[in-house]
Amino acid sequence: MRYLTFALAKGRLAKKTLALFEQMGITCEEAKDPDTRKLIFTNEEHKVRFFLAKASDVPTYVEYGAADCGVVGKDTILEEGRSIYEVMDLGFGKCRMCVCGPASAKELLSKNEIIRVASKYPNIATTYFREQKNQTVEIIKLNGSVELAPIVGLSEVIVDIVETGSTLRENGLDVLEEICPLSARVVVNRVSLKMEHERIRTILDNMNSLIKE
Ligand code: PRP
Repeated sequence: MRYLTFALAKGRLAKKTLALFEQMGITCEEAKDPDTRKLIFTNEEHKVRFFLAKASDVPTYVEYGAADCGVVGKDTILEEGRSIYEVMDLGFGKCRMCVCGPASAKELLSKNEIIRVASKYPNIATTYFREQKNQTVEIIKLNGSVELAPIVGLSEVIVDIVETGSTLRENGLDVLEEICPLSARVVVNRVSLKMEHERIRTILDNMNSLIKE
């Protein structure tokens, strides 16, 4: 039997996903070592293999079939726009994609002013302002600590993930508009969904009953 390969977004999502697999009886002892630098873990009994990738690369591995399945945030799925199937909402990693900024920027949004928007998610930001709001904006791509942008005058607002809201609060920023809810999703390669349908279905069904508990 060939390995069924899962690409996991490294970090919290990967840890939670591996814990779910463990509950299903698919364990990877090596993955539990907090000091391990290994990227690939194998369960020989079930012929399942996991690898840890940077979140934004997970849809790429799945689209090309280097992984049959992936677990990654909805934010990354939307941003990467890859040709993959999203088959399940795992219900963890819940947060929201929002337009944020100082309260004073609310007016700039409602009056359709030409503004600058900083984001790690230029595609999500572009689609939102163009298609949902019909507002002309300049998108500035950043790679982290996006909350800095409106504070230091790089942009009027940001498009970013809000989880607890504490980063915003501690930097004097507010949620101005909500774009969409986010959570961890299972994605599947197009060919794998057909060729490995049975095995994938069984795993998804088991996951589903576990997350409903
Ligand atoms: C994310 C996000 C916000 C923060 C939101 O950043 O971009 O900055 O978490 O979480 P909160 O609402 O609970 O405060 P991350 O920690 O991934 O770091 P980064 O800004 O360097 O990308």
